[in-house]
Amino acid sequence: MNAYVGTPTSRVDGRAKVTGAAKYAGEFAADRLLHGFVVAATIPRGRIARLDTSEALRVEGVVDVLTHAHRPPLADKDEAWKDEVAPEKGSPFRPLYDDRINFNGQPIALVVAEDWETAKFAATRVRVEYDQEAFATDLESERGKAARVDQPHKPRGDAAAALTRAAVQHEADYVMPSEHHNPMELYATTAVWDGNGKLTVYDKTQGVQNVQKFLCSVFGRKRDDIRVVSPYVGGAFGSGLRPQYQVVLATLAAVALKRSVRVVLTRRQMYGLGYRPMTIEHVALGASPDGTLDAVTHEAIAVTSRFEDFSRNDTGWADQLYKSPNSRFSHKLVELDVSTPCDMRAPGAATGVCALECAMDELAVALKLDPIELRLKCYSERDQSEDLPYTSKQLRQCYARGAEAFGWDRRTPAPRSMHDGKDLVGWGMATGVWEALQMPVAVRIVLTANGHAEVSCAASDIGTGTYTIVAQVAADALGLPIENISVRLADSTLPQAPVEGGSWMAASSAHAVLGAAEDIRQELARLAKALPGSQLADLDATKVTLVDGMIASNDPNGAAVSIADVMRHSKLERIEKEKLNQFAEDKSHARNTHSAVFAEVKVDEQLGVIRVTRVVSAVAAGRILNTKTGRSQIMGGVVWGIGMALHEETMMDHRFGRIMNADIAEYHVPVNADIHDIDVIFVDEPDDRINRLGVKGLGEIGIVGVPAAIANAVYHATGKRVRRFPITLDKLL
Ligand code: MOS
Repeated sequence: MNAYVGTPTSRVDGRAKVTGAAKYAGEFAADRLLHGFVVAATIPRGRIARLDTSEALRVEGVVDVLTHAHRPPLADKDEAWKDEVAPEKGSPFRPLYDDRINFNGQPIALVVAEDWETAKFAATRVRVEYDQEAFATDLESERGKAARVDQPHKPRGDAAAALTRAAVQHEADYVMPSEHHNPMELYATTAVWDGNGKLTVYDKTQGVQNVQKFLCSVFGRKRDDIRVVSPYVGGAFGSGLRPQYQVVLATLAAVALKRSVRVVLTRRQMYGLGYRPMTIEHVALGASPDGTLDAVTHEAIAVTSRFEDFSRNDTGWADQLYKSPNSRFSHKLVELDVSTPCDMRAPGAATGVCALECAMDELAVALKLDPIELRLKCYSERDQSEDLPYTSKQLRQCYARGAEAFGWDRRTPAPRSMHDGKDLVGWGMATGVWEALQMPVAVRIVLTANGHAEVSCAASDIGTGTYTIVAQVAADALGLPIENISVRLADSTLPQAPVEGGSWMAASSAHAVLGAAEDIRQELARLAKALPGSQLADLDATKVTLVDGMIASNDPNGAAVSIADVMRHSKLERIEKEKLNQFAEDKSHARNTHSAVFAEVKVDEQLGVIRVTRVVSAVAAGRILNTKTGRSQIMGGVVWGIGMALHEETMMDHRFGRIMNADIAEYHVPVNADIHDIDVIFVDEPDDRINRLGVKGLGEIGIVGVPAAIANAVYHATGKRVRRFPITLDKLL
């Protein structure tokens, strides 16, 4: 019975969000709450020579100023930090740990006061002197120092030789800038001190249990001592995957002062934390004149910090998409005196697939082939890196449905050949690909005799709609109206969940709900059979369904009894079941989501102004649990992709190693006026292998492919190929 799964169910938390009832990390109150304000370093590399807090401490209302020289103990072993979601290698950043400055914007002191304005003012009275050291922050000038990290995709054949031989070649660098997270909600933590040495930490995070584990190791506490709660998240999309420094600072101050402390970063201070790393993507494609690929090479060189290695898979995606007998991929990092990059929506793919898909467009131009035709000629039915079939891959349908909805057949191929009044019109397309991952998640369901069920799990809802899909799946599995389901999430005391990221939470949480609901159903069936004179006495407990508040035999002529009656006669007020869902390891198939993105741009030739007037995104991502929140996710990804193509760029002044546009006035993101028609199509993609519901997850696929489709449209409109993102008007004139 699917009354809710697959429907456009409105967000169950929508009302709480729009009425302000939903509380975010920086909004929780506590008795005698203190406020912390961060003092950030203004040099990129060196040591703190002198840190004078005396003047700040004299400001009325200031309670303390924490520094590396004045703080409670912190774990000093790197191992304590390494388990958590953080870069894999290096020495993870520890705020206020010692006198080293590793990046501009690094926190060096926390001023704690009775109110926020006082803390903010007193922070300006902290005097710092540095011993500055030579530094480097420019990826392009340090490119020669790039060192190879992992190479997840094996080379096939001899790409170098095949490339040299190829009749048609295309080779270029595509430069993706660093981009900073700018969620609506700032990084924030309210650490509530309970008086007995225990803490409840309200944190902006994508994983409460991850933060809990992290804090316990950093502060040498037991799990019982620290509870982490994050019921609502005002946008995260990677920025809240690893525990960020404000949660350490708020906890540190609460422990030091034995009082509750709130730390909210300013928008400018957010730029001292994670960002999508600047990446130079070198793509070389070799093809036969008929448009079949002979060679693909993709080398990425990305920024990381000196103290942590951060790398994501930028380069392997051609193996998912395009048949080629020869391929070679490599990923290199350049260590700079900057903060460590972090995950940002479709990390690796958003940038790497952008380069690949721009290169494919350039190859299509060289071959005089339609861009879709080229992609169909190279279409790969297998994941070539592992040589595996897919659980499902309806990318062909994405091309077909997307092209039809967009009206692609009316495109004239020559650049500058389409017009709308004075504007040049360009139509471009690109492919998107992401992974369909699944992780172990546990869910608890408490069914009460009044026909209500509470479903709980430690998973976060980062705005993606987890509350809603959990309620939908539970309502269907328990045969209850969705109004009778309440969902509790994002409290570390609830059943186990990983961070919400990688697009794995929908499939993972949905199946955990099914598992727990199954146990409830079996328990009800057992009880129903046992009742004296039961109509269901002969029932096979595995062949019942919960529907409309009844336990019903799957046999169409079979009996049905009300759940409430069964519970009442069994003298049960509640049935509680908790189940951990593990996904069976299956290495026989590749699992991916795909998309075809079509973009129309209109370019004012005199001014170079680009408008993205239409985007069609056709997505194949298995079964869509909720077509309304799912569509919103894809639309959000498209908007962000427009930002990547045209607006977003973190600009560094390399003379000072400092970000110049660390605010949303100067760091441009798309605004309402930048967004026009966005059409989302979900292509049918039945998949009975990936999991019981055929769900793949939708978070990241929405952005992948969008920047390249726009770049390709800009080329089609203007005849200018801009390979350095974002495509700003100065690059067109
Ligand atoms: Mo996503 S970068 O895993 O929030």
